[in-house]
Amino acid sequence: MTLWSTRMNAPPAEEMMAFSASLAFDRRLAAADIEASIAHVHGLARAGIVEEKEATLLAEALSRSGDELAAGVFQFEPGDEDIHTAIERRVHELAGDVGAKLHTGRSRNDQVATALRIYLRRELARLAELVLELQRTLARRAGDAGQTYLPGYTHLQRAQPVLLAHHLLAHGWALARDFDRLISTLERMDACPLGAGALGGSTLPLRPDETAETLGFAHRFENSLDAVSDRDFVAETLFDIALIGVHLSRVGEEVVIFSSEEFGFLRLDDAWATGSSMLPQKKNPDVAELARGKSGRLIGHLTGFLATLKGLPLAYNRDLQEDKEPLFDALDQVSLALVAVDGLISTTLFDTERMEAAADAPALVAVDLAEWLVVRGVPFREAHGIVGSLVRESIERHLPLAELIESHPSFGEDALSLLEPGTALRRRRTPGGAGPEAVAVQLGRFTAHLGEDAARLSAHRR
Ligand code: ARG
Repeated sequence: MTLWSTRMNAPPAEEMMAFSASLAFDRRLAAADIEASIAHVHGLARAGIVEEKEATLLAEALSRSGDELAAGVFQFEPGDEDIHTAIERRVHELAGDVGAKLHTGRSRNDQVATALRIYLRRELARLAELVLELQRTLARRAGDAGQTYLPGYTHLQRAQPVLLAHHLLAHGWALARDFDRLISTLERMDACPLGAGALGGSTLPLRPDETAETLGFAHRFENSLDAVSDRDFVAETLFDIALIGVHLSRVGEEVVIFSSEEFGFLRLDDAWATGSSMLPQKKNPDVAELARGKSGRLIGHLTGFLATLKGLPLAYNRDLQEDKEPLFDALDQVSLALVAVDGLISTTLFDTERMEAAADAPALVAVDLAEWLVVRGVPFREAHGIVGSLVRESIERHLPLAELIESHPSFGEDALSLLEPGTALRRRRTPGGAGPEAVAVQLGRFTAHLGEDAARLSAHRR
């Protein structure tokens, strides 16, 4: 039996139910649905629509249904279209006739939207914590990296030496923006749709402000049509997650490259690498590759859901049921990826000798040589030209750059100190730059920022 069987002359076709039922995936809204339903029955009692003792019976039946669901002993029936109808049916069985009053003044449309927001606000806080965790790991590894440096790249060509800490923190700041986005999504979605009914409110004297407050929302909806059809918060979450996925993918790509024999900057911990079924010598960066690969799927969830939304007239349309699977999968996958990348970064061994040897190649100080001339009055474009032709000459004539610098009239022996390992980095002092003093300041700021974000998050934990 469905909730709407009296309207029809025939029972629902099995294939129709198979196509439209969402029970298989919306079970994870059970706890949120029960929380919202309990608030709803108390609201009905306050409005004088049900008696206090009826509300108590309903609330008890709801909690018991919740316990059964949590314990895995809840018996689903073939007519259960989704978790919401299953719970209502069970409440009817447990509470008897009064069960028929549970759905007074509400529709599944405002019910589903409410449950999804309750569920998601918890999930967003949980996800934000995982993002913070990974940032903490990056900060710790940056602190441990000390003065170690490696080449910084543009176009994947060696450009200038940078501190390893600087490189790690670059990923940390990207995640700091991800964290910020999750929190602002959470804050924007803090409106309770309960009381919007199917689309236009109710003739019953419900007080949506009060149910919003009971459920811990900042406020109620402003417009009932918008309340039941708004899934911006799902789309925003999918974007936030897609971008986290993109950031993890970029980390993954670097781990793949840097752990290759050609680079040799990283050695993966055995617990975080995989072997080959055929090639006995292999140690593969599968975690990094999956972090990269899964981002495609996360981007797909965002674009797919935006396509679902784009043609919908107001207000509720069944298309909206398609919000759940991409959302749940995105939450699951990005959580797994954040934890795995955290494990990977925590345990990776940095081959600091290989990194520094690569960064000590003399050509990486080319711009420092040009700036050395600038300080001595040579216009930058001219200085750039001088150094560029010296680099070319050193390659073409197979001569060390140091030799050419030493014998060049604009440079001479004094400039040779610039080529000494580590010098280029120490001489770079601009704020936010890759030199040791600036990076020490940056690490301090990053750590302080982490502390502020942890405090921001604790205000949203329930
Ligand atoms: N499972 C559905 C959903 O998630 C429930 C809403 C059905 N509402 C309706 N008017 N048919 O959207």
